[in-house]
Amino acid sequence: MTTAIYPGSFDPVTVGHLDIIKRAAHLFDHVIVAVLVNMEKKPWFTIEERTDFLRKATADMENVEIAGFDGLLVDFAAQRDAKAIVKGLRAVSDFEYEFQMALTNRKLDDSIETVFLTSSAENMYLSSSIVKQVGLFGGDISPFVPACIKEDILDRCRKLPPRVMGAK
Ligand code: PNS
Repeated sequence: MTTAIYPGSFDPVTVGHLDIIKRAAHLFDHVIVAVLVNMEKKPWFTIEERTDFLRKATADMENVEIAGFDGLLVDFAAQRDAKAIVKGLRAVSDFEYEFQMALTNRKLDDSIETVFLTSSAENMYLSSSIVKQVGLFGGDISPFVPACIKEDILDRCRKLPPRVMGAK
């Protein structure tokens, strides 16, 4: 059985992330969506909310598991016996950072391969930051997030204090 890890902050999950998860689930026997618990940039959504959104959005995908992780990604991957790290690439602007992370991870553990999936064309512009900005100002986030979690995300956006405006 080949296990792959799809890591990220998922703050919150978007339809772009979900597209990558679906495609990875066709390529690998088991996909662990690994949600970073303690991020440098303070997340808007708690780890419980971020994992809960992902669980709802992937409820129909039998070989997809949602897990929180902390520390080095390669250590988590080794613990879970994963052979690959899956990353989505939206545009050239993602490339430099992703390339740096992939090479660092290979230096740390060369038994784990990073596999890049290109974003679908319709999701190339999309990010969690866009969802938060549009939600915060009362815009329609339905093109950007899985339908089953739209209201949960909007509820939280309405409760956010003004200081989060401008946060990433
Ligand atoms: O969705 P993001 O914020 O781009 O995800 C970044 C993530 C979680 C993949 C990255 O920050 C990560 O792997 N963090 C764990 C710490 C680590 O292993 N760092 C070394 C690789 S640079």
